[in-house]
Amino acid sequence: MPLDQNASSVQINVRLRSAKARDPKCTTVVVFARKGKTKSEVSGMGPELDKRLSEIVASILENGLSLEDLKKAGTFLRLADLNGYQNVAVFGLDEKVKTHEDLRRLGASVLACLKSNKVTDADIAFGPIATLFKSSLADAAQAFVEGALLAAYDFNKFKTKKKEDSKKDEEPKETKLHLLVEKKNTAFDKAIDTASTLVDCVNFTRDLGNTPGNLMTPEILADSTVKKAKGTALKVTIWDRARIVKEKFGGLLGVSLGSAVDPRFIIMEYNGAAKSKKPVCFVGKGLTFDSGGISIKPSAAMEEMKFDKCGGATVIGTMLAIAKLKLKINAVGFVPATENMPGPLANKPGDILTARNGKTVEVDNTDAEGRLILMDALSYATEHKPAVIFDAATLTGACVIALGNIHTGAFTRDSKLRKKILEAADNTGELVWPMPIHDNHVSDMKGTYADLCNISSNRGAGASTAAAFLEQFVDKEIPWAHFDIAGTAWHVGNRLNYCSKKGASGSMVRTFVELARMFG
Ligand code: BES
Ligand code: MN
Ligand code: ZN
Repeated sequence: MPLDQNASSVQINVRLRSAKARDPKCTTVVVFARKGKTKSEVSGMGPELDKRLSEIVASILENGLSLEDLKKAGTFLRLADLNGYQNVAVFGLDEKVKTHEDLRRLGASVLACLKSNKVTDADIAFGPIATLFKSSLADAAQAFVEGALLAAYDFNKFKTKKKEDSKKDEEPKETKLHLLVEKKNTAFDKAIDTASTLVDCVNFTRDLGNTPGNLMTPEILADSTVKKAKGTALKVTIWDRARIVKEKFGGLLGVSLGSAVDPRFIIMEYNGAAKSKKPVCFVGKGLTFDSGGISIKPSAAMEEMKFDKCGGATVIGTMLAIAKLKLKINAVGFVPATENMPGPLANKPGDILTARNGKTVEVDNTDAEGRLILMDALSYATEHKPAVIFDAATLTGACVIALGNIHTGAFTRDSKLRKKILEAADNTGELVWPMPIHDNHVSDMKGTYADLCNISSNRGAGASTAAAFLEQFVDKEIPWAHFDIAGTAWHVGNRLNYCSKKGASGSMVRTFVELARMFG
């Protein structure tokens, strides 16, 4: 049974700010206060309301709150008749609101405030933000809406409903947000559509990550991808075990041997440009549960290893977004999917596997399995002669030690590519940090009895030696970058208010789509 995506609970549209356009059902207005000539004031709601709201803001600020406080959480007031509104949520635009990422976080704060006050229909006086971000109004709207929609995500479908709630739940609980603008602007409308599409795909990535191993086996991951791709221009092909054997994917097959369920290889193809144009390739680690295998992991926090499929989920979300946004590029996504379990046929330390490209690997630690399934997928991606290959994987605990849950590690020897990656990440606000791959890391991965070993012969630099291992499966002429998302794929809510406190973040989907735009 493929996964049914959590229905999005928030709809955003644009509405003209005229008295005629007012909807009496909409009880709440969100306004933004910023420093005026003499004092902080509200604008964007028309002279009369602006004046009343500015007075309210003045009294809030006199009572000790700052614009910065009002930026983080806002303040929610229930007032009698504000031109038909009964509630106002006041947010601050202080001088630190400069980047699109600031707007993304502001959008998330607004959503959280409305949610906690149980508001399901609100107008948002977008004008002051528009004034502040004049040069890139559409992009500003996109960022704000992304933040709000990303923050609305809640993975609660496995909690049974309380009896007294069941009646209420019969009614749809959709929240409607309306960005109030002075005049119609098609670029603005399009930006909101883009944000909604992107977030729908990020949220699908999050759903795939959050669903536990018993309900998201390789087979279910593949079926869910096929189902979600219906109606898009994506061509999805699924290889079963027999095909994986036939195609000589010795790593993917080897890792799957200890599991009672079969592996899958997911291929997603999108053609939005001339056939002759080289594709952008994405490869993602789809480990639906990583127990460590015979080199079994300690029990503490082992449940988090359901998130070991997040790299694969990122690639699936990216390819869906590329197709839904109808980018004029060619792209292919590859996701090797398997469990890593210690069943009777499992790899034993010392076993030797042969990769798709013929290289042999000694498996000295069965818990270093990600690189074993990626080696086949990267070799196969190489055969497509792509313009560039990007891979995403929850590959090493070492990367979590190095960068925490703050940055994704980006590994490439190609300085031009590195520059582009940092530019793309800067555009999306996702934090990415360049990490080294050096010949020393490669020599650390030489095997004793086979060409390569899956663990390093030296201590330290575990994230780089893993990257150096992957490098052995990509042709030197093809630009390639590896992203270790072990730290950023889940539990980042303490850093980013548009991500849940616990659970999958959907990290790198937006940056991968940005890279696809750049390289396509
Ligand atoms: N999936 C893990 C990496 C991981 C661990 C991600 C913890 C996030 C949190 C990966 O398969 C793994 O087990 N890597 C080993 C490699 C080692 C045996 C060389 C690791 O990092 O300990
Ligand atoms: Mn592992
Ligand atoms: Zn793993």
